Amino acid sequence: MFRRLREFRTTQTVRDTHSEVSLHPTDFIHPFFVVSGQGVRKEIGSLEGVYHLSVDELLIDIAVLQELGIDKVLLFGVVEEHLHSAEGGYSADENSPVVLAVAAIKKDFPKMTVMTDICICGYTDHGHCGFVQDEVVLNDESLPALAEMALAHARAGADYVAPSAMMDGQVWAIRQLLDQHGFHAVRIMSYSAKYASSFYGPFRDAVDSTPSFGDRKTYQMDFRNRSQALWEVEADLQEGAVATMVKPAMCYLDIASNIKRTYPQIPLAGYHVSGEYMLIKHAAKAGAIDELKALEEVFYSFKRAGIDWIISYAARSFVQSMSDARVV
Ligand code: PBG
Repeated sequence: MFRRLREFRTTQTVRDTHSEVSLHPTDFIHPFFVVSGQGVRKEIGSLEGVYHLSVDELLIDIAVLQELGIDKVLLFGVVEEHLHSAEGGYSADENSPVVLAVAAIKKDFPKMTVMTDICICGYTDHGHCGFVQDEVVLNDESLPALAEMALAHARAGADYVAPSAMMDGQVWAIRQLLDQHGFHAVRIMSYSAKYASSFYGPFRDAVDSTPSFGDRKTYQMDFRNRSQALWEVEADLQEGAVATMVKPAMCYLDIASNIKRTYPQIPLAGYHVSGEYMLIKHAAKAGAIDELKALEEVFYSFKRAGIDWIISYAARSFVQSMSDARVV
């Protein structure tokens, strides 16, 4: 006697009936790179199909997302060379591109959930995520800068701030400062399990944040570790995070699954990072795979692993094509 499991696969309808996970436009968080100026829409060389956008152009894209049903965005600021400094102070400036973008989006699209990346690496002249002394990345000394950046974004109307610097105590420092200023409702989504990864390469070109010396292995996680990720998440939850993240995602689905099983009540984001995105773009261009089918498989694997929110540069084009095909 043998079992007939192919019965679950006879037609598309049967397969749909027995599918264990689903994808919806609201599963996605769309990342954007915001610059100053007007009318700027410049494709990023290392990240095909991704643009540096000035605020006016960004609003055009946000309208499209809203139409598609994508309701969450994550903003990164990109600033000119002369605004980079040793301590990255421009990250908390009230005229920084991200601050202006948050305010503009919340004014025109109040229902859009606006999240902002909190890290100074795009604003420092050395490209590290904290203050540096004698080529050592300092921890405690860097915390006030991260908290000030979060406060500037909260003042502009951000719904979530998302610390990604991997400094110990960053969630605690941000939560304290936000509470002191009455921003209790501004939530923290922490990049808790962020690994020192070579898949960030294209992103660093996009924001000009490649470290001028060394690497990020003294603060981002070692990819040989699995259980340590739970420790990172636990610390962030204790410090006040209400959502967490695994990053990158494709090579780290075991981590995502562990986190979801341990903390089922906490929204878990998975960041399909720049290098993972470009792997698929390049492979598709070379004729090795079909881009949309590959993305579909990747995103469903994220959902299977327990990821709730998918951060992806392909969110818009993917949801667009899925809705054209009436899949989502
Ligand atoms: C900032 C930050 C990085 C990414 C998101 N936030 C880069 C890094 O840690 O070097 C990577 C995103 C991507 O590769 O798509 N610290």
